[in-house]
Amino acid sequence: MKQAASVDSVSRLDRDMAEKNLSGYWRLGMEGLPPHPMTAVEPCLWKWTDVHDSLVRAGEVISLENSERRVVRLVNPGLNQQQAFATHTLQISFQYVKPGENARAHRHTPAALRFVLQGNGAYTTVNGQQCVMEPGDLILTPKLTWHDHSNDSSEPMLWLDGLDFPLVQALHQVMQERYLDRRQPIEKSSEEVMDKLGTSLRHGVRLADFFHYKWRDTKVALHELIKSPGARDRFDGYLLEYRNPLSGGPTMTTIQCAVQLLPANDETETHRHTSTVIYHVFRGTGTTEIGERRFDWEQGDSFVVPLWHVHRHLNRSSSEDAILFSMSDAPVLRALDLYREEF
Ligand SMILES: [Fe+2]
Ligand SMILES: [Fe+2]
Repeated sequence: MKQAASVDSVSRLDRDMAEKNLSGYWRLGMEGLPPHPMTAVEPCLWKWTDVHDSLVRAGEVISLENSERRVVRLVNPGLNQQQAFATHTLQISFQYVKPGENARAHRHTPAALRFVLQGNGAYTTVNGQQCVMEPGDLILTPKLTWHDHSNDSSEPMLWLDGLDFPLVQALHQVMQERYLDRRQPIEKSSEEVMDKLGTSLRHGVRLADFFHYKWRDTKVALHELIKSPGARDRFDGYLLEYRNPLSGGPTMTTIQCAVQLLPANDETETHRHTSTVIYHVFRGTGTTEIGERRFDWEQGDSFVVPLWHVHRHLNRSSSEDAILFSMSDAPVLRALDLYREEF
């Protein structure tokens, strides 16, 4: 009877405290904090055929007059529908712009990037810089930069969108503004900016921003890396990070992008880290083992390696290289002194 009264008084205390917006630490029990970081984000792979079919169908029924963007978002099964993102920090989506269409100019606090997959000749304008899009190009639209997408070519354009939307949402900082006109005026081209960049870096002249990494440059750098002795990373193969050429820092404040090449038959070693990585298969076929699970991938597929999950990559082809594009939240974890790696 005494014990029942004691339990009863704890529950009465809890109830009374709840009415006053208070909560007792004893409600957490005696287990304490977990011995390693925990996440609801699940390892997951999305097939390109599913994404592509959805985009093409959306092209038939969704117009850019009634939707700001024609975008298909990847949703992690471990997160609930209110957090309908691929991970708890970063979002990956795919965007489809048909010939003659324009996705109107706006800007927002979430930072975004585009990795171009199909089409030629459409362009994204970022703060007045015209970035003509070709497959493999990476185009950045950092926080609060004006951006619009126009397809004046004769073929559909399709690209990957990466955003730090979930992170910015968790910080309650999401906002968006529309530009006065549908398209912003073009003031310069990416080619002009790249021409100036070499001179600027050599002479210490500061350029305001850098938005466009051309695939033709990335490809050359990747193939130079393969030839460099000792360049292969045991966990990632030949990994090339996209650095901000002006600061030397990560691609953007919150997102680190990279491409990595796995030669034919390559197998990397297992490791784990506190950053979460989203991969997109740009070329080739392979397998990524995440914990106990195996995910077979081919060109166009995307997959997530959640934080602190042991993983390694295998190129299943005996003749072709595999190339993965990736984005991770590592810069955020490093800034907060939470980045750790174990192997
Ligand atoms: Fe946007
Ligand atoms: Fe890794």
